[in-house]
Amino acid sequence: MRTQNATVSEAETFNYKVVRQFAIMTVIWGIVGMFVGVFIAAQLIWPNLNLVDWLSYGRLRPLHTNAVIFAFGGSGLFATSYYVVQRTCQTRLFSDKLAAFTFWGWQLVIVGAAISLPAGFTSSKEYAELEWPIDILITLVWVAYAIVFFGTIVKRKVKHIYVANWFFGSYILTIAVLHIFNNIEMPWGWFKSYSAYAGVQDAMVQWWYGHNAVGFFLTTSFLGMMYYFVPKQANRPVYSYRLSIVHFWSLAFTYMWAGPHHLLYTSLPDWTQSLGMAFSLILLAPSWGGMINGIMTMSGAWHKLRTDPILKFMVVALSFYGMSTFEGSMMSIRSVNALSHYTEWTVAHVHSGALGWVAMITFGSLYYLIPRLWGRDSMASKSLVEAHFWIATIGVVLYIASMWIAGVMEGLMWRAVEPDGTMTYAFVQALKSKYLLYIIRFTGGACFLAGVIIMLYNVIITIKGQKPVNPAVPVGSSEDSHQASAVGAPATV
Ligand code: HEM
Ligand code: HEM
Repeated sequence: MRTQNATVSEAETFNYKVVRQFAIMTVIWGIVGMFVGVFIAAQLIWPNLNLVDWLSYGRLRPLHTNAVIFAFGGSGLFATSYYVVQRTCQTRLFSDKLAAFTFWGWQLVIVGAAISLPAGFTSSKEYAELEWPIDILITLVWVAYAIVFFGTIVKRKVKHIYVANWFFGSYILTIAVLHIFNNIEMPWGWFKSYSAYAGVQDAMVQWWYGHNAVGFFLTTSFLGMMYYFVPKQANRPVYSYRLSIVHFWSLAFTYMWAGPHHLLYTSLPDWTQSLGMAFSLILLAPSWGGMINGIMTMSGAWHKLRTDPILKFMVVALSFYGMSTFEGSMMSIRSVNALSHYTEWTVAHVHSGALGWVAMITFGSLYYLIPRLWGRDSMASKSLVEAHFWIATIGVVLYIASMWIAGVMEGLMWRAVEPDGTMTYAFVQALKSKYLLYIIRFTGGACFLAGVIIMLYNVIITIKGQKPVNPAVPVGSSEDSHQASAVGAPATV
């Protein structure tokens, strides 16, 4: 009886509907986006798979990146930020209607991308390929998102703004600014536009956008997830609340300047390249500060790793966050970039961040969230969560190890010269020597995809199979108070 009342009180107080919708779509878009990733990985092995124009590599690659970053990652961020802001502010979302608009609007953006990219419509700016009508829809959805999120913070019932909300808030603000400025363009019909920028300015603005899309869409936001769900799952307070604040400000400040590391050895003025490199090296400090804060939150709970596959996802995610940020800082050094640029090494770096960090922290957070959203005790099958964890970990290792080897190998082959100055290897020789490594990457990607399919099955049986037995804790309980009980934090959130 008590638990039933708790469910009623929760449902009345919080808007879980939109969180549930986004959570389900995260898993579905994850499967779609990663399936396209596996398919393009196969095309690199068997070029005959470029069957028709709209299934060609050049059109499906941006579909993959848009689907995994904005559809999978984006839906996961909407779900978790809406959940976290309500729980930690102890209040319902600012507006149910606007929240519903963000859900349906975002799905429309994704469907628009899924049709227009294979059809060949593109602005040709990486991670901002969508044409101007979709850009306008994105802007509208994003403004609505900002109103819902910050409106909820304004009407919060507790004084303190928990640190996860700072991370979510900065990602929402930054993405708005980046999206608008990078997409200033002149429409030329419904499906074509020309950028307002030209030449080196265009490149500079594009990579200011591109790098901060990584920095804020794929990092800062997921740190928001980390700061809520890791303490929750470990049932420990954040290791150092003070460090989390230092982490926040230093990360937000430093990321903004690092974009030029994507344009080393180009016609960008030399001093901007050096500035980008210097800030990328400095960026290691806040990145590792955050990683250490997450890992140390496990203090006193390490034994749980033996039995809790959700925590395993989170710890592996944090480890990959540490590794990929270290790697990124190293790749920003000019002489290292001279080897890594244009090679598979970059692809390895991208996926150690994207699969190892972004996807793993999302899976861990969703496994925490889904039973609570539907008032279930836990996921229907713990062994399937465990299976997902192992198959995903094996998948990411196969993916990145093969691409590291391929990248360094081809980089060295390209630069090898004979005493008379001619190239030792033809380009096609370097390509051919990657063949086996491409197959290993494809296998790793297929494993990773299989893991998400297992997850979908587990989510379905969790929602359908069990009766609601143990709804989330009633509003006003101490459940959302424990994270902030570390040094420097107020007593309640
Ligand atoms: C301290 C943190 C990081 C630094 C300094 C950094 C630095 C770099 C560098 C130098 C490149 C290669 C640029 C080139 O040669 O073209 C790169 C590419 C990339 N990184 Fe990172 N990285 C960091 C963290 C991350 C993380 C955590 C992720 C993902 C979650 C990520 C995603 C990417 C992507 C998607 C690209 C490819 C961009 C493109 O050319 O399309 N990075 N990064
Ligand atoms: C099953 C899992 C995945 C597979 C098999 C896969 C495969 C691929 C392939 C084959 C490419 C093209 C590489 C190239 O141009 O040489 C690629 C690019 C990319 N993927 Fe994935 N991917 C997967 C998951 C993800 C996820 C989850 C994310 C982000 C959250 C992601 C983000 C990206 C990005 C940003 C690029 C562009 C990299 C660049 O420009 O350097 N991928 N992926």
